[in-house]
Formats: sequence, structure tokens, C-alpha cells
Amino acid sequence: MRWFEGCLELLDQTKLPSEVAYVRCTTSDEVVSAIKSMVVRGAPAIGVAGAYGVALAGIRALNDVQEADFYNFLNGACEQIAASRPTAVNLTWAVERMRSAWSGSGLREPREVVDLLVSEAKRLHQSDFESNKRLSRYGAKLVPKGARILTHCNAGALATTGHGTALGVIRTAFEKDKTLHVIADETRPLLQGARLTTWELTIEGIPTTLITDNMAGHLMAKSEIDLVLVGADRVAANGDVANKIGTYMVAVLAARHNIPFYVACPWSSIDLKTVTGDAIIIEERDAGEVLGYSSLRWAPDNVRVRNPAFDVTPAELVTAIITDRGVIDGPSTASIRVFNQGVHT
Ligand code: MRU
Repeated sequence: MRWFEGCLELLDQTKLPSEVAYVRCTTSDEVVSAIKSMVVRGAPAIGVAGAYGVALAGIRALNDVQEADFYNFLNGACEQIAASRPTAVNLTWAVERMRSAWSGSGLREPREVVDLLVSEAKRLHQSDFESNKRLSRYGAKLVPKGARILTHCNAGALATTGHGTALGVIRTAFEKDKTLHVIADETRPLLQGARLTTWELTIEGIPTTLITDNMAGHLMAKSEIDLVLVGADRVAANGDVANKIGTYMVAVLAARHNIPFYVACPWSSIDLKTVTGDAIIIEERDAGEVLGYSSLRWAPDNVRVRNPAFDVTPAELVTAIITDRGVIDGPSTASIRVFNQGVHT
């Protein structure tokens, strides 16, 4: 994504890999619809897009809204942006950052507030990129030479502001070790692994093999996976991890086969206000995504469908969480609290 001439430009991830097209958002409503339709997706990416959405609401309010209604308009846009997808904490995190930037600034003049909102969104954009680079350096140390790494969904540059979390660790590890190999789960129903992860990795020449989701257990049983590396949409205070549907299944398989299961995420994905994973709201998406893909349909229209977009992996199945503050081994309420207080080594 990029901020260009007062607009947010988003690479349209719904069209990849067959078409590279951009969507231009000039209003916060357009940002909300881009997030809901997954033009932009991935927890850190929707957080930063949401921050730009708040800035766009400010620009709109400056031009079209009475000065007395400026803050009402801005607050309304914040509510809509925060509610556009429920599971990733990064959206509410980014909106709260934007709110505290203007409320803590002491500025009242709308023009000055809008300038502040634009620069705060740019700051969050830059800081997400730096977090990815930092956590990737920590994570790369955990990747043995020649590792065969299973990943699920897309936690790459596309899902963030660049470099990526799980794929960021892989990118950084690959700089030193050209023999590593990625096994990408297809990730039904929206195929983020098949469409996006393979696209990102093959562009950079990182060896990648695509499998369907139901093949992971077989490859583990045949000793063809050395470690699992995934991203996160929200980590509860006790270390439970919400991530793309199917992650829990992979974690159970990894435990069965004694394979390390790593989660990579920036600190902004850790939600200390949510005590355990049970309290995380799991987005349910449209039945059409399960009945077929794009214009193809392979199930009868009248069949009952469930389509939870995420699941929760209990902390006990997570070997470590790789963050920009360091690696939390065996995550728990106590170990996460230590990192939050900054007293880790
Ligand atoms: O529904 P999506 O594609 O937005 O889900 C994305 C994921 O689950 C990613 O693994 C997660 O957001 C981490 S991205 C760095």
C-alpha cells in the first residue's frame, strides 16, 4: 500500500496472482469496503489501512462537514473502521493510536488535526515495516540450515506493510541460507497460501512447494517438515493465538509429530485486554466462499454452510512467539507480562 497525493493506494489482493491492479481509496468508506472485501487483508496491513482511513475521514470532514461536527464525523469513521473486521486486533489498535494522537496533541484547529492524522498514519506504516524487520532477525536465528518450513495462509509483505512476519522470518533466513524450502498450505477457502504466499516467494526465488491443506499431516508423518511458522491476527494475554482457519489443525499435527510450531507477529498483535483465546470474536464470512470460488460453484446452493475465517490455537501448542521485542518461549500469561514490562533479556 502507499499514500500518494492524499489517497490510499492498495494492491488488490483479490485479483492476485492473475492480475496486478490497484484500488484508490479517497474516503474512509472506501477503505472500510476494501478491508471487508479483502482487497487489503492480513492483520498488520488492515491496521495501517485503517489508520489511513481515519486520516481520509479527517480530510473529508475538513472539506464537507461543519466545524462543530468535525469530531463527531471523525469518531463515527473510527467506529466503522474498527468494526470492519472483528478478529484481528490491529484494526482497533490502529484506530486507538489515531484517536490518542489527536486527543493527546492538544490541537483543536481541524486543519492542524488533519495534518497530524496523516503524519501519524505514515508513522504507523513505517513502524510496522521496522517491526517486521526486527522480529524477522530474531526469528531467523530459530531456523536451522536447510529447514523445510510449513506455513499457512499469507503472513508476508502483502499482509503487512512490507517484508512480512512469518514470511519475513523466512526472507531474512533465506538471505543467509539458500537451501531452505517453504511448503505453503493452499489455505481454503480464499486460497491465500496458493494465490499470495507462492506469488510472493517465487518472485524472490525462495524455493516453495504448494500443497492442499489436507496434505500437511502426511508430509509431517514422512519427516518432510522441520518446523511450522505462521502469523497471528490476535494473541490473547495467555498466549492463545487466533490465526487463519486451519492453523489449529496444523498446530495439533505439529505437536503429534514433535515439530516446533512458531508464531511470528508484531507486538501490536498482542491483546493484553483479552485474557484467553475464548474471548476472541471469530469472523464468520459469506457461505459463497465455501460453496465455490470466484464464479465457480461445486456445492448445491441450498446446503447449510459454516465459514469461520479464523481459529484459536491454545498457547500450550505454541513453541514460541517471535515478536519485535524478542522471542517468547512457551508463551503464557506470565511470560507475556514479562515482555510487556520490558524486563526480558
Ligand atoms: O483473512 P485474512 O487473509 O486477512 O487472514 C490473514 C491471516 O490469518 C494471517 O495469517 C494473519 O493476519 C497474519 S498476517 C502477518
